[in-house]
Amino acid sequence: MSFAELWQELQPIGRHRGGGYRRYSWTAADAECRAWFTRRAEALGLTVQPDHNGNLWAWWGPEGAGRAGAIVTGSHLDSVPDGGGYDGALGVASALAAVEELQARNFRPERAMAIAVMTEEEGARFRVACLGSRLMTGSIDPVAARGLSDDDGVTLAAAMSAAGGDPGLLGPDEDLLARIGAFVELHVEQGRALAPMGAAVGLARGIWPHGRWRLDFRGRADHAGTARLADRKDPMLPYARTVLAARRAAAENGALATIGKVIAEPGGANGVCSSVTAWLDARAPDEARLEKTVAAVRSASTRYSSECAVALNVRQESYTPPVHFDEALRDRISGVLAAAGMEAPVLATGAGHDAGVLAARVPAAMLFVRNPTGVSHSPAEHADPADCEAGVHALALVLEDLAGAK
Ligand code: GLV
Ligand code: MN
Ligand code: MN
Repeated sequence: MSFAELWQELQPIGRHRGGGYRRYSWTAADAECRAWFTRRAEALGLTVQPDHNGNLWAWWGPEGAGRAGAIVTGSHLDSVPDGGGYDGALGVASALAAVEELQARNFRPERAMAIAVMTEEEGARFRVACLGSRLMTGSIDPVAARGLSDDDGVTLAAAMSAAGGDPGLLGPDEDLLARIGAFVELHVEQGRALAPMGAAVGLARGIWPHGRWRLDFRGRADHAGTARLADRKDPMLPYARTVLAARRAAAENGALATIGKVIAEPGGANGVCSSVTAWLDARAPDEARLEKTVAAVRSASTRYSSECAVALNVRQESYTPPVHFDEALRDRISGVLAAAGMEAPVLATGAGHDAGVLAARVPAAMLFVRNPTGVSHSPAEHADPADCEAGVHALALVLEDLAGAK
């Protein structure tokens, strides 16, 4: 099946009314994505196996001990709320299409190959990004992971069990990690660097350090029509000032800081809130700037809360240190693409990826496919069909090179 046909099949799954995607892990949309992937991988003759952490692996080539040094590609199928169709999904569909291209050329891998679909990459449901790769590499405690809960209080353990998984098995997977010779993730570009350079495909240098912090502002619910301003304990006030402080701190430190999720309780239009919970996402080119940014937001929100007689609790929910992708692997990929007439500029990014988490344990690399507007985590996210095809071809060349020689 061509990339265009695969894409057409995948597109309706989990699409919401406004055109964005709501493919949250362990939901019905997620199950449909997994079923689609399994069907398409099996049609290519691959053997699909879930791992202990909810990720799917579709194997091609040697089995058993022959899987040592496997060349793995893939990405994720979950989305942010009303996310674009390309983030993650492009890497998975491109991987299937690249294997199809290699098979059409009668390529037989010397090394085992696999396509991985990682779970809960966005952390949209359980709030820890790249959860599948973090569990696999042991960078999150499985007991803590099982207890993570979504906005409705459903734990990861309960959600996974309801979907037929076994949360008791969550945890580091040294056997699987030991089998990976290299991990190459293709992803839609998030940002707009490739378009002005006239390049359809780029390569990743590294990922900025980044993390998420949860801020709980607790005040006192009261009557909007009778509570005197001076008597209120309104958590909305320090929250609102914190949003502005985050913007200021980011600008002062050359960083990025975003409050994109907020829950106001109880949420009546004619009442003062009892609590406001907000999530700060902060990212910077280096850890020093990231620390300064978060420290500035913390101290501003503490001050504003005490001025408004509101209690504040700040907790880090996830953290990813800076990632430097394997230079030798990147140079090799760059050479393969250059030999085919594709110059792939090398880019740094502020977006997190499973390849970044896996890079701590195995040689990892990323290919980016041009995004003409740079917009991502939005229904406006886009890649032109011709660039998607170029991405598939680039990935096929890379896999051929890496899997074709021991
Ligand atoms: C993942 O897309 C992230 O960077 O949040
Ligand atoms: Mn994303
Ligand atoms: Mn992604």
